[in-house]
Amino acid sequence: MKKIQISPSILSADFSQLGNEIKKLEKGGADMIHVDVMDGHFVPNLTIGPPVIKSLKKNCSLKFDVHLMISPVHEYIDAYADAGADIITIHPEATANLEASISKIKKLNKKVGVSLNPESKIDLIINLLDKIDLVLIMSVNPGFGGQKFIPKVLEKIIELKKIQTEKNLHFDIEIDGGINFENYKLAIEAGANILVSGTTIFKSNNGDIKKNIDLLRN
Ligand code: DX5
Ligand code: ZN
Repeated sequence: MKKIQISPSILSADFSQLGNEIKKLEKGGADMIHVDVMDGHFVPNLTIGPPVIKSLKKNCSLKFDVHLMISPVHEYIDAYADAGADIITIHPEATANLEASISKIKKLNKKVGVSLNPESKIDLIINLLDKIDLVLIMSVNPGFGGQKFIPKVLEKIIELKKIQTEKNLHFDIEIDGGINFENYKLAIEAGANILVSGTTIFKSNNGDIKKNIDLLRN
């Protein structure tokens, strides 16, 4: 059984204090930092890009779990790798050739993740599961923090876990979107081993980040 890891999403952080917010996550026991990159094209929101990631990475020892909600994505992979991303997760719909994008990320010695939106099927990636380090299961439609968890995706995690066991593969299963104290155990029981959370970690219990991370981990 893989250790449960917590990857707080800085989309819910105070963007005017991002450096300090990341320090609080580090002190609060986060396992990695989930960085939501949005381009206003693949999703109807626009956040941060390589220059900001580069400067944040300088002052943080944690791994950057970079979720690229951008399209086209292939041409920009180098820039995120250079900026300091440790895990680069892309959406299949954002590249003309998923296999080529996966191998490009691996050639840059980064861990590669592929993200499935709530309506996207495992079939999209089933033949590439042996080439990836992480599957990011979206439990909200990408674009914003603070949205309502879509419980239907738990079936997809159960199915993915079954395939993983059958094929004897070892990729991480990360769930992202609307995770809170009521549903995180369902996600773990279904097979997720990395929990992304923005709102719950930054806003619950008067913003007590360490307490919120501990609650999600235990
Ligand atoms: C949504 C992002 C998620 C989101 C999670 O497109 O990919 O990472 O920020 O935030 P919460 O936990 O608030 O749903
Ligand atoms: Zn995300």
